[in-house]
Amino acid sequence: MNKFEFTKELIKKAGEKLTDFYLREREISEKKDEFDLVTQFDLEMQKFIVESILEQYPKDSIFAEESGMDKLKDLENKNLWIIDPIDGTINFIHRIPFFAISIAYYENGEPKFGFVLNPITRELFSAQRGEGAYLNGRKIKVTENADLKKSILLFGISNFDKMDLLNKFNKKVRRMRLFGAAALHTSYIAAGYCDAFIVRNIHLWDIAAGYLILKEAGGILTDWNNNEISPFETKQLLFSNGKVTSEVVKIINGQGD
Ligand code: IPD
Ligand code: CA
Ligand code: CA
Repeated sequence: MNKFEFTKELIKKAGEKLTDFYLREREISEKKDEFDLVTQFDLEMQKFIVESILEQYPKDSIFAEESGMDKLKDLENKNLWIIDPIDGTINFIHRIPFFAISIAYYENGEPKFGFVLNPITRELFSAQRGEGAYLNGRKIKVTENADLKKSILLFGISNFDKMDLLNKFNKKVRRMRLFGAAALHTSYIAAGYCDAFIVRNIHLWDIAAGYLILKEAGGILTDWNNNEISPFETKQLLFSNGKVTSEVVKIINGQGD
């Protein structure tokens, strides 16, 4: 079994585990601070995923969200797994069925493959570099839509961010949505469900898999000045179908009519 197939099996197993945690009666112990939460389930999921990978590939490096694992000290590392064991922890805690497991594999700083799984809807988004993007085995691509008025925009704005960014798009797009899981947001652009995802101050583990899925589906990642960027730049990001990008950038910068 190659690494891609191994990871597909692993994320499915992890998804079953996470669904079980989601459905069962549970006491959640929250740590970190009021807004940045981690539960015992995040830690347990990460342990399961990381141990499974290292058992099979002991020489590989891991960059994962929860503590105790390698930090991103060696981006150029040859074989690097980038993992978010639960993306959308707050949804998970509140029993909102919109969260995901994200696993990406990079070599020498280049994405090789990525998986994002919503275990509740059983949507498994995946991509291998140069081989297209898939949802449960069916090829996906971004929308052809260039009309902002017909667009659905996703946002990754937290309570701390200025809400005036949202106000700028008022009446300019069909709808705005904030679902609360960046890995799924990026996958939703890739699958053509929505047209653009605007986010700032994200972490690499949130988007490492979704970035490749989006790229392989024909989308682009830019900053808020329409420069193509890599997922290692995590300050101001715009994931889009490539068609609405310049209009979205104009509005972000207050130049829309
Ligand atoms: C968060 C989610 C959220 C995004 C935050 C992330 P977490 O990840 O992806 O949508 O706005 O920036 O930190 O903490 O649930 O893994
Ligand atoms: Ca996350
Ligand atoms: Ca997480």
